[in-house]
Amino acid sequence: MDVLEAVKGRRSIRAFKNRDVPAEIVEKLIEAARWAPSAGNIQPWEFIIVRKPKIKRRLAEAALDQVFIEEAPVVIVVCANEVRSSQGYGVRGETLYCIQDTAAATQNIHLTAYSLGLGTCWVGAFREEETREILKIPYGIRTVAIIPVGYSAEAPTPRMRKSISQIVHYETF
Ligand SMILES: Cc1cc2nc3c(=O)[nH]c(=O)nc-3n(C[C@H](O)[C@H](O)[C@H](O)COP(=O)(O)O)c2cc1C
Repeated sequence: MDVLEAVKGRRSIRAFKNRDVPAEIVEKLIEAARWAPSAGNIQPWEFIIVRKPKIKRRLAEAALDQVFIEEAPVVIVVCANEVRSSQGYGVRGETLYCIQDTAAATQNIHLTAYSLGLGTCWVGAFREEETREILKIPYGIRTVAIIPVGYSAEAPTPRMRKSISQIVHYETF
């Protein structure tokens, strides 16, 4: 699939079919994630693959009861290793680069999933400390995104985007 076709065709999916996603497909998503760019090639990402219904349910609760999370057969939790980034780039690495790097990896997952016929949603609204407790995430590592992955059971219409003239500035702001 053409990159622009994937970029423009992907939608946030919040309803999933009762159909499993094989481990080889999840591996492809992680493969795409790990080829994202990262500051100084530090690759501060960590991925937690969740399939157990009990853990998915707790994650859905931590994500302010977004129940579609537990309906997906697989949930990928993207984490940022702040310690690794700060060792390379100090405060800027810890507070900015590791978030940017993991966001790039997250988008690679979404686009690759879409190109493979899967649906995903970028979930950022969650109680972070609760995810730490549920997933036994050590301090120094932050939960950045929760991504439910499955076969889509809906076909949402594209959401509005600002026009180019609203967001582009030439030469100066
Ligand atoms: C950082 C971030 C956090 C988001 N958090 C949530 C969320 O918690 N729950 C949700 O349903 N969608 C969430 N979304 C998805 C957005 O609502 C969605 O991308 C936006 O409305 C545009 O729709 P589209 O993805 O279908 O193009 C999030 C997206 C981003 C980038």
